[in-house]
Amino acid sequence: MPATDVTTTVAVQVRGARRTFTAELAPVRALRGVDLDVRRGEFVAVMGPSGCGKSTLLNVIAGLEPVDEGSVEVAGERVDGRDEDWLARFRRHHIGFVFQFFNLLDGVSALDNLVMPGVLGGMKRRAAESRARDLLDLLGLADRANQVPAVLSGGQRQRLAIARGLVNEPTLLLADEPTGALDSEGGLEVLELFRRLHDDGQTIIMVTHSPDVAAGADRAVRMRDGKVEPV
Ligand SMILES: Nc1ncnc2c1ncn2[C@@H]1O[C@H](COP(=O)(O)OP(=O)(O)OP(=O)(O)O)[C@@H](O)[C@H]1O
Ligand SMILES: [Mg+2]
Repeated sequence: MPATDVTTTVAVQVRGARRTFTAELAPVRALRGVDLDVRRGEFVAVMGPSGCGKSTLLNVIAGLEPVDEGSVEVAGERVDGRDEDWLARFRRHHIGFVFQFFNLLDGVSALDNLVMPGVLGGMKRRAAESRARDLLDLLGLADRANQVPAVLSGGQRQRLAIARGLVNEPTLLLADEPTGALDSEGGLEVLELFRRLHDDGQTIIMVTHSPDVAAGADRAVRMRDGKVEPV
């Protein structure tokens, strides 16, 4: 049997990750020794009570926040301890992020919300626009291309935020409660979309409070007090 090349099968490996925030009253230990392994092509749901460190964990995987201790590896590359330039390049190539609070650009159209990160990621404007239109189509937003996020419904904004996370064909899609702003039907629609992306090979880590949504993933892990517990 040929030896398995771990760099091709491991998408994410977090070991002993710790992250403490300084706060006025007492330090907040958001991550207290997190271990997590995600294989390429896997769809993993992260659950756990508010404040247990789920968003912080996604942020350190994306290199948006440093770890104080421990290691973070994505697509075979060490992410911890890198400088901002390296991290920016790494994120453009490897990470799609759907934020808990959308982070859409208010002043520009739905289309430009997708074109701009594409161009920043190194695409020619025409290629970025064509990719953006494909994604709007995929997410049922084709007729909203020229509208600004403020006039879209919560569910449409949520789908636009997901499209934005996919613009650069990321190795890893990180989604922080992508169904949080939706009713249960809208939530299951988004889940269906994630399942389709997953069927096409997309690696996904998704934070969710909904057991129904988590049940649609390959596997769920639970966080508690800054640690990942086996379910
Ligand atoms: N920038 C920050 N400065 C100080 N404390 C922070 C910061 N970011 C997060 N925290 C604290 O770290 C802990 C974990 O926060 P985190 O946002 O990761 O939780 P969460 O599991 O995503 O919660 P929720 O389900 O409410 O989104 C919380 O106690 C939070 O108050
Ligand atoms: Mg959160």
